[in-house]
Amino acid sequence: MTYDLAVVGGTLVSGSGRQRADIGVSGGRIVEVTAGNGAGLEAKEVVDATGKLVLPGMVDVHVHTREPGYTHKEDLITCTEAAAAGGVTTIFGMPNLDPPTVTRTHLEEVLDLYAARSIVDYNHNPVPAHGETEAMAEAGVAAFKVYMVVDTGRTYPHPAGTGIHDHGHLLQMFEDVEETGRVFMVHPHDQALMDHVEQGYWKRDDRSPEAYAKTLAAYDGIIWDTATATLLRMAKATGCRLHIVHVQTIEGIEMIRRAKDEGVRVTGEVNHWALFLGTWEDVLELGPYCLSYWVPDHHRAAIWDALADGTIDMVSSDHAPHTRAEKDVGWEDMWAAHTGTPGIQHQVPLLLDAVHGGKLTLERVVELTAEAPARCFDIGSKGYLRPGFDADLLIVDPTKEWTIRNEDVLSKIGWTPYDGRQVVGAVERTFLRGVEIYGDGTVKGRPGLGRHVKPSD
Ligand code: DOR
Ligand code: ZN
Repeated sequence: MTYDLAVVGGTLVSGSGRQRADIGVSGGRIVEVTAGNGAGLEAKEVVDATGKLVLPGMVDVHVHTREPGYTHKEDLITCTEAAAAGGVTTIFGMPNLDPPTVTRTHLEEVLDLYAARSIVDYNHNPVPAHGETEAMAEAGVAAFKVYMVVDTGRTYPHPAGTGIHDHGHLLQMFEDVEETGRVFMVHPHDQALMDHVEQGYWKRDDRSPEAYAKTLAAYDGIIWDTATATLLRMAKATGCRLHIVHVQTIEGIEMIRRAKDEGVRVTGEVNHWALFLGTWEDVLELGPYCLSYWVPDHHRAAIWDALADGTIDMVSSDHAPHTRAEKDVGWEDMWAAHTGTPGIQHQVPLLLDAVHGGKLTLERVVELTAEAPARCFDIGSKGYLRPGFDADLLIVDPTKEWTIRNEDVLSKIGWTPYDGRQVVGAVERTFLRGVEIYGDGTVKGRPGLGRHVKPSD
């Protein structure tokens, strides 16, 4: 058979090992994986991956695309261009948009925007607003998302309807999402505790980035841990599948580990900034540009251990772009700044660099970035380099040394907190369903190429 595409000579990496093998692709799907030299594979286009690694494209389940509503920060084209360059072939967008994704109508509008503009495959996580949840599940969402945050003194990044404070309301959401069988993704946070702690700083007129960082990290993570306990208890009560975003404390990790042992259906993610950014030195040097969160060193060490031992299931970017102006006000008043950290373009290279530094195995990186997110969110066509799966694949040079630079950022904001960082390991080419969307340092995919990937029941 003559394939559309053959990738030959490379070393294929999966969560369970690596092998020298060639891949035959037709109709966007992997048809054949042949160990050996691939002399038998005929194709219209042959990609020589000799000396390179071939990885499944990343499934990034936590991305703030900013469209509609905040397109001065980012839009679906720039976001997915950055994704393609960063080896991400599927994204899940978040609902803190304008209008916020709280109804089926808004969800459909957002899905139409992706269909016209996304370069990579996609899904979108709406808020499970009561009365709308079943209809939104039927529209093909893989997960729902809510924030346990109601911002004090500002309306962004959690517009009305996306953040909730009330535990009865939250329990209702767990019940509703459980009925759909989908995953409930929640940002853990205790706003009442945050309000109390921040008052202490505000009374002293301290609104610095350091004060903000210390507020969120107060009492060694009480704002996260109390919320995590509540969420796990609600998941246990309702049987709903829970996904906890940005795990960042020792106690949070231990609670998730215990809950899994008890059979609670919970998964956890960690984001690039908890691994590679957010030290106290970063807070002092980068201030608003590395906040939301300071991750004290003892927590970071526990996060790396939990990544290796499987307590944390996946890595996601939590890509949260904001303009320089929105960040710069934070040097004076961090509570007036927009918080969150961009990263969709650099997380895979940073993980490859971590492999180079001996912090993680390559196999575990594939599990964390592709296999686990696809599996945990029921995306049956993604995550694996096996016959029958979508040909979403990355050609990776694990030895390439390069420097992350602001001028190479594809995200609309044009900056990265990693500017100047040297890494070893690069994504050279990215293929989506057999089509090259990034290569030779350029985005090749066209807006509208991306498709809505739906959960397989
Ligand atoms: O700091 C944050 N930024 N926290 C969130 O929950 C949302 C994010 C954003 O959208 O910028
Ligand atoms: Zn987020």
